[in-house]
Amino acid sequence: MFKRLLGMLLGALLSIQIGSVQAAAIAMPDRFSAAAAKAVLLEGGNAVDAAVAAGFVLAVTYPEAGNLGGGGFMTLVTRPVENLQSGRQAYFLDYRETAPQAAFRDLYLDQQGEVIPYRSLVGYQASGVPGTVMGLWQAHQRFGSKPWKKLLQYAIDYAEQGFEVPPALEENRRWYQQWIEGKSSDALNFSEHFGALQSGRMFKQPQLAKTLKRIAARGAADFYQGETARMLVQQLQTHGGLMTLDDLAAYQAKWREPVRFGWQGREVVSAPPPSSGGVAIGQLLKLYALLQPELQAQRQHNRELPEQALKTHFYAELEKRVYADRAEFLGDPDFVDVPVERLLSDAYLQQRAQGVLWDAISESESIRPGKIELPETTHFSIVDAHGNAVSNTYTLNMPFGSGVVIEQAGFLMNNEMDDFSTKPGVANVFGVVGGTANEIAPHKRMLSSMSPTILLKDGEVEMVVGTPGGSTIITSVFQVIVNVLAEGMTPQQALDAPRVHHQLLPKDQIAYNPDLPEAVKSALELMGYTLKRNNYMGDVQLVVCDKTHCEAASDVRGRGVSAAW
Ligand code: GLY
Repeated sequence: MFKRLLGMLLGALLSIQIGSVQAAAIAMPDRFSAAAAKAVLLEGGNAVDAAVAAGFVLAVTYPEAGNLGGGGFMTLVTRPVENLQSGRQAYFLDYRETAPQAAFRDLYLDQQGEVIPYRSLVGYQASGVPGTVMGLWQAHQRFGSKPWKKLLQYAIDYAEQGFEVPPALEENRRWYQQWIEGKSSDALNFSEHFGALQSGRMFKQPQLAKTLKRIAARGAADFYQGETARMLVQQLQTHGGLMTLDDLAAYQAKWREPVRFGWQGREVVSAPPPSSGGVAIGQLLKLYALLQPELQAQRQHNRELPEQALKTHFYAELEKRVYADRAEFLGDPDFVDVPVERLLSDAYLQQRAQGVLWDAISESESIRPGKIELPETTHFSIVDAHGNAVSNTYTLNMPFGSGVVIEQAGFLMNNEMDDFSTKPGVANVFGVVGGTANEIAPHKRMLSSMSPTILLKDGEVEMVVGTPGGSTIITSVFQVIVNVLAEGMTPQQALDAPRVHHQLLPKDQIAYNPDLPEAVKSALELMGYTLKRNNYMGDVQLVVCDKTHCEAASDVRGRGVSAAW
C-alpha cells in the first residue's frame, strides 16, 4: 500500500505540470495520427499522451516509417514542476535501436573485406534491436497523464477496423517492392503482408491489432520479454538473424541531456549523440550567425550573382565542414567520446568559419556517390494547451525497413544496421561516410541524423520542428529555422520554400527540391557545382508559437495534417 501511495505521489510530481491554458497545436505526418493527437489533447491529455497515441497510430497507418520494429528520439520541453525548480525543463529520450550482442565490426564484409551488397539493408540481418515500444512506454511512465491502454486504443481501432490507404502509401509500397526485388537471398514476406495496400481501399491488420492489444495490456514487457518477443526472435532466428531473447530483454531506452545552445536570443534544444543532429544543427546555426556580416558584404560586392545562388553556396560551404565533423567525431556516446562542447564552442566555430570561401568551392575528397532520395522516417510536433512540447522523430531507416514482417505479430523490422559505418569511408544508403566512432559493436547505437528540435524564447516554446530525410534532416531543419526566424517567412512558406542540401560527398554536389530558378542553377553550375534534383527532401512538421497563439504547418512534400486551436 505504502509503495503504491509513494508511486502515485512520485507520478504526480513527475507528470507534466499543468500551467495556464494557452494555445495548442499539432503537425502530424498523416490525417489518422492528427485525428488521434487532437482528440487526446481535446480530452485534456498532455503532449506526451498525444505523442504516445500518435506514435502507435503511425505504426498502423504509416507503415513506411511509423513503427513498432524501429527506433527514434523524443525531445521534450515541459513546464517546471511547481515549487521544485524554476525554468523550463528540457529532456531527451533516446530510443534508438542497438546492435545485437552477436554483431561485430566486420559483420557486413566478405572474406576479401568488401561490403556485401545490401546485407545491412535488406533481410534478416539488417535489424537492430527495436526501441520504439520501450521509448513510448518510458515517456508515458514519466510524463503521461492518461491511461496507457486508452492511448493505444486509437491504433488498435485502425488496425482492427482498417484505414483508407492514401495514394502516397500505395506509391511507396510499389516503389519498395520493386526496390527489394533480388536484393536478398532470403525469402522476404513484405508483399504477402503489405502487397494489398491500394489507394482508396480499406486496409486491416488483424495480427498487428492483437500485438497492440498485448502491449496495451502488458506494456513494454510484452514486446521485450513476452509473447511478442518470442514471435520476433523465433522468426528472425529461423532465417539466420542475429537477435536473441537476451538482446530484447537487455534493451533500454535512455534519458540523455539534450544539446542546448543559445542562438539569436533563443535557446535551441535538440538531439545529442547518438544523433548527429543537434551538434550539426548547432554548428550550422552558429556558423550562419558568425558569418552574417561577411554574407552581407558579399551581397554588396556580388550584385550580379542571384541572391539564392549566393545563399546556396554559403550553405554548402558551412555544410561541408559540418558533415566532415560528423563523419569523424560522431557516434554512440556510450562507446566513444564525442566532443560535443568543443564542436559547438565559439572558439572552434570561429576557426572553422575562417576557411569559408566566397568565390570558390572548398576542396572535398570524393569517395562515392550518395543516394539521398528515400522517403523514410517520420516526425511529429505537438504543443499542448499548457505549453508542454514534444518533438518526435522515429524510423525503420528506409521506408518499410528490412522488408521482413514478423508474421504472427504483423509489424515490420528496421534496417537500421546500415546507419553504422559498415567499413570506414564507405558510404551508407544516404551517401554519408563514417569512421571508427561509428563502427559496429554489440549493443552499440548506430549514428543518426534525426533531429527533433525545440526552440524557446523568453522561457516559452517558440518552435517545435523536425523531419525525416536521412542525412538531409539536418539541413532541412536548419533551413526551416532560418526561414522563419531570420527571413521572416510564415510557417507554411518556410516549409514549402525550395530546400538545398550539400553533405561533403558527393564532391561539390548540391541537391535541391522541388526546384530552383534557372538563373540560380546556372550561376551555381558556373561556380563549379553539379546540381541534382532530389525526388525527396523531407517532410517537415512545424509548430510556431508566440505568447498568445500557435500556428502549425505540414510540409507540401508529404501527406501531413496540422492544426492549431
Ligand atoms: N535512419 C536515418 C537516421 O537515423 O538518420
